[in-house]
Amino acid sequence: KNWTTPLRYQPYGQWSKEYVAALQQQVDQSIWRFHYHIQPDTGLLNDPNGFSYFNGQWHVFYQAYPFGPVHGLKSWYHLYSDNLIDWKKDGIRLEADTPYDSHGVYSGSALPVGDQLFLAYTGNVRNEQWDRHAYQLGAMMDTDFTVKKWDTPLIPDPPQGYTHHFRDPQVIWYQDTYYMIIGAQTTDEKGKVLCYQSDTLSDWTLLGELDFTSEDMGYMIECPNLLFVDGTPVLIFCPQGMPKEVRSYQNIYPNTYITAESFDTTTATLRSPSALSHIDEGFDVYATQGFQAPDGRALTIGWIGLPELTYPTDQENWAHGLSLVRELHMKQNRLYQVPAAETTALRQQQSTYTLEDLQDKVTVSTNSYELQLTLPAEQTGELVIASDLDKNNGLVIAYDTTRGMITVDRGQMSHVINAEYGTTRQYQTNPGEIHLQLFVDQSVFELFINHGEAVLSGRIFPLEDQRTLFLNGLAQDIAFWPLRSMN
Ligand code: FRU
Repeated sequence: KNWTTPLRYQPYGQWSKEYVAALQQQVDQSIWRFHYHIQPDTGLLNDPNGFSYFNGQWHVFYQAYPFGPVHGLKSWYHLYSDNLIDWKKDGIRLEADTPYDSHGVYSGSALPVGDQLFLAYTGNVRNEQWDRHAYQLGAMMDTDFTVKKWDTPLIPDPPQGYTHHFRDPQVIWYQDTYYMIIGAQTTDEKGKVLCYQSDTLSDWTLLGELDFTSEDMGYMIECPNLLFVDGTPVLIFCPQGMPKEVRSYQNIYPNTYITAESFDTTTATLRSPSALSHIDEGFDVYATQGFQAPDGRALTIGWIGLPELTYPTDQENWAHGLSLVRELHMKQNRLYQVPAAETTALRQQQSTYTLEDLQDKVTVSTNSYELQLTLPAEQTGELVIASDLDKNNGLVIAYDTTRGMITVDRGQMSHVINAEYGTTRQYQTNPGEIHLQLFVDQSVFELFINHGEAVLSGRIFPLEDQRTLFLNGLAQDIAFWPLRSMN
């Protein structure tokens, strides 16, 4: 298909039922569909939106383009859950159907207000000349999931000095006031985050630029999120075009965070900000969104996919997925990310693989599992997964515990993807024992290092019979669980 601009922006109603049914049939044939990660029925998924807890359930939406593996006319697709692991599909709840969002309902956030869920999002509008206008918009979702958009924008224009690359509002309730932070670009093309304040949700006052760094953040910042993790302010964001001297990265755009000592609301300042770190050290995570759950936890979920890249499932008319839900904690002044406690409920009967089994090889019936092991100090070796019976190819997780280095190489897979951004990613930790917790789900892996000190995730595209894993080296405390599919 030739995805021309008119075709990508064709109204949803003009796609026939037969067309969508044919797509669905094609997607259903895919060997790369996830068992326990959120994925689109058909077409493309990108950013998580509106991740929240409302009316006794968890909610998440995602940026959806259901008609092909491309970035077209975007809407919000809604899912809900009782346990953060089994997500029920509700369907599209916010569509491009007003003059304020005619060319896409872009990313945003959700906040429970009274007995409704407030949704804040960006309306993307293009004129005849294809110039962009960004509106920050509001809507309310009821307990029966009906959504009513507000008639007038929350913020109709970017302030003087900023372009219409102005999007992805996150609304939080902090010290008895609403705050909204928005990704922005100055007219001289510098990436910024703007901070607004409101008592009513409908009238917003600009506080100014969120002050969180003196470094060059490139030409645009997308998807900013301010969380309070065990009381510590954490800003998660996606700088585009950031110089690599600020923080080295290999992905087309990084998904980064800083922590701070405090949030000064009068001046919109994050005091004593840390240096930038990666929210994920791997190949494919972007647009991570978090919120404060009523149980006190800071939870996040990310898009596993990147803007502008292509993946093998594009041929099958679906693209990308969402990560597992992560729980954030501060330990010794560092951010830790672990899979949400609920994730253990995916485990089926534990397998009793020994070190010897792993050193030989283990062939699983399906590539959906969790593996934990401890790598002893002063060792080198490699764990290989998604390999064939002959132990050729696969995803290679190499370790050197003398140096404290983990290197993940997807250049030995049958399908090598996006090699122009490098086939390896590395994470350096302290020398000594290293603990790994690896989740594999058909065409995605998420590797938690040292109980959440870092996470390294990515897409892989093994062939159907590439289900062998093996270890060249030593490990202790091996635990393996096949994981069930999402209900
Ligand atoms: C990030 C992003 C957001 C935007 C959305 C559109 O991936 O570009 O800035 O709101 O995707 O789908």
